[in-house]
Amino acid sequence: AIEETLVLVKPDGVARNLTGEILRRIEAKGYSLVDIRMVQADRELLAQHYAEHEGKPFYEPLMEFMESGPVVAMRVAGNRVIEGVRVLAGATDPTTALPGTIRGDFGRDWGLRVQQNLVHGSDSVESAERELSLWFA
Ligand code: CMP
Repeated sequence: AIEETLVLVKPDGVARNLTGEILRRIEAKGYSLVDIRMVQADRELLAQHYAEHEGKPFYEPLMEFMESGPVVAMRVAGNRVIEGVRVLAGATDPTTALPGTIRGDFGRDWGLRVQQNLVHGSDSVESAERELSLWFA
């Protein structure tokens, strides 16, 4: 089915000038960019986006990382795009993400308290709808 998903180029991806490379891979796969904006996220937006992770050990470092610089938010459409973007992104941990994936090819394990893994993709239809309404209000 045709779906829409939220892709975030995280602050590390923006700072490392990987926004174009990430979008290139998404478009090369056949997915369509519907909307895009650069955002300096605030606590309120991030708290809503990451509500499911509240209380986890990486929550506070994750919030600090995500507000450390601008992110690029994209609304992306395509058949099974939610799963497809997560396959393009690769595993959460940059060390074990397979080569050929965004995180596998470009992800660095900095040994910090949170995975600075370049990119986020919604994990379900429900998450995608919720997250898109937050970032593209
Ligand atoms: P994301 O897909 O944006 O969702 C939550 C984020 O938290 C994840 O990407 C990583 O950046 C980070 N994260 C998830 N699990 C861990 C973990 N076990 N240790 C550190 N950071 C994590």
